[in-house]
Amino acid sequence: MSDSPIAVFDSGLGGLSVVRHLRQLLPREDIVYFGDTARVPYGTKSQPTVVQFALETAGFLLQFDPKLIVAACNTASALALDELMQAMPVPVIGVVEPGARAAVPLAGGAPIAVLGTEATIASGSYLRAIRAVQPTQPVISKACPLFVPLVEEGRNSGDPLVRMTVETYLGGLRSQGVRVVVLGCTHYPLLREAIAELLGPDVQIVDSGRETSLVVQQHLAARAALSGRRTPGTLRCYVSDNPARFQRVGSWFLNESIEHVEFVEPERYVNLARQPSERP
Ligand code: DGL
Repeated sequence: MSDSPIAVFDSGLGGLSVVRHLRQLLPREDIVYFGDTARVPYGTKSQPTVVQFALETAGFLLQFDPKLIVAACNTASALALDELMQAMPVPVIGVVEPGARAAVPLAGGAPIAVLGTEATIASGSYLRAIRAVQPTQPVISKACPLFVPLVEEGRNSGDPLVRMTVETYLGGLRSQGVRVVVLGCTHYPLLREAIAELLGPDVQIVDSGRETSLVVQQHLAARAALSGRRTPGTLRCYVSDNPARFQRVGSWFLNESIEHVEFVEPERYVNLARQPSERP
């Protein structure tokens, strides 16, 4: 048993959609979360930048002595997981592989559509993770960059702008025999209803965040590292900018109110990944 916290990081508040599942599935675990709200979005940035930001953001969380780090951000998982696994002294679980693994058996050989940010789709990480399970699996990859700002603006599945955008990005999938859609971005579960409605009842939707929470549970159970406490786990959030907005918008992602949010000054995470002698 281990009462050390689970550390979760994301480019901003989207990772709370993953924390939501972790808290449902593992209600006795303490969670520390760092949202890099000063530098969001990661989804339009290059790999070297995402790697640097991910190492700094995850590195900040090490001070809490976590038993595990979850890279809740799909973009960071897609572009920086190897570097994170090498650099962190504790196991790191990303969201790409759990989502990919869940999708393959559901597809039964029909095409899987993967939706994500520009950077996630350009990285080909989901495609590789799916093909690692089933080498002949047809995959349609689709970047949906407008989904993130729409969700951050508080627009939901009923909003006409959302419906129009979903139709624009995904309308073409209807004629391609897609059986499974992977929501490969922290924000897309909040548009799930609009996506499901457009694609119809024969298409199954995989939420990578939910699948990741199941993998975290299995990982901790297999190592006898689940929390042994009987009281509910706590959630402490840290952000690199605008805690008030994080608290307000984030509670929609989390589906509960956020009690503890602290602002983190750049000196506490920027350049953390570099040796002191390398810092400017
Ligand atoms: N968290 C990011 C992801 O899941 C979406 C927001 C961003 O672009 O940083 O890819």
